[in-house]
Amino acid sequence: MSDNHSSGQAAPHKRILTGIKPTGIPHLGNYVGAIRPAIQSIQNSDSDAFFFLADYHSIIGCHDPAIIHESTKAIAATWLACGLDPERVTFYRQSDVPEILELSWILSSSCAKGLMNRAHAYKAAVDANMEKEDVDPDQGINMGLFGYPVLMAADILMFNATHVPVGRDQIQHIEMARDMAGTFNHRYKTLFTLPSAVVDNDIPLLTGLDGRKMSKSYSNTIPLFGEPNPQVSSEKQMHKAIMKIVTNSQLPDEPKDPDDSALFEIYKAFATPKEIADMRAQYAAGIGWGDAKQALFDKINDEVAPFRARYEELMANPKELEEILQMGAEKARRHSRKQLDKARRAIGIRPLAKLK
Ligand code: TRP
Repeated sequence: MSDNHSSGQAAPHKRILTGIKPTGIPHLGNYVGAIRPAIQSIQNSDSDAFFFLADYHSIIGCHDPAIIHESTKAIAATWLACGLDPERVTFYRQSDVPEILELSWILSSSCAKGLMNRAHAYKAAVDANMEKEDVDPDQGINMGLFGYPVLMAADILMFNATHVPVGRDQIQHIEMARDMAGTFNHRYKTLFTLPSAVVDNDIPLLTGLDGRKMSKSYSNTIPLFGEPNPQVSSEKQMHKAIMKIVTNSQLPDEPKDPDDSALFEIYKAFATPKEIADMRAQYAAGIGWGDAKQALFDKINDEVAPFRARYEELMANPKELEEILQMGAEKARRHSRKQLDKARRAIGIRPLAKLK
């Protein structure tokens, strides 16, 4: 990728950037909601793209070093196995680009504390404490959680990203990044591009095994490639999870309502319009739940089986993964070193004289 983007100016073209927090092993909800659309959006456009593993964000809520480590590996392997081209996209680990943390500190001085007080995640944590008796409102809340949006602003403003694909829960953070960029630009000089959140309403939110939204925090997920080191193949793990999806107690041959079924909803995320219509007809005709589950498994497996071999290869070969991430970090740092230098100069931190 060329490095002709002068990061001091407004970005001349579309630059997509998004972060993925490594705190778990990717599941089908991650695949349908983030991985697949992100990779497709890159394949169909000529915009610049920056995708990174937000590991310094992960440590705010996850204090288990083994999970941070394993999950970084599994998520990097998943994105690459699903078709992310590290030559085309700048794919890196946040912690390998130390300039981001420096910028984060600089931005914290262009960020009102009151703005952080209004952040949803922080407010939710305070509200939860307030509901309990005799509990300090800030109990269990670390400064990382409080300042989360500042680090996220640094991730984005460092590269002058124009478009930031995120879930709805992250829109407020992008607005906060704009706020910080505006304050800095106004106070010192115009350095940062104001980013826009991109939220795709067509992306389905998958239901999990128990009927609630599929989420690691509910332990109701269907693994995409399976847990590492399994006794059983990852294909079998997925099959087993799909067979566990809750259904009602209707018997085979009883007509079923597809719109009231998590199975059908997940099927829709993988099938063509014609296949969806056919499956609808099969529900009306009373397909048994066992057969519907098998059809769902076959459909998902058609799509992900081709990625599995590459996933397993990368998981068994962390050296290759590390090399890819280091290449990405080097690409990212070509931008971040310059951008940080500009930010430091703008605020008055620069050498007193040229030596030599
Ligand atoms: N906060 C995002 C999430 O939880 C992850 C993230 C970190 C991110 N930095 C970012 C997303 C920058 C977009 C841009 O999903």
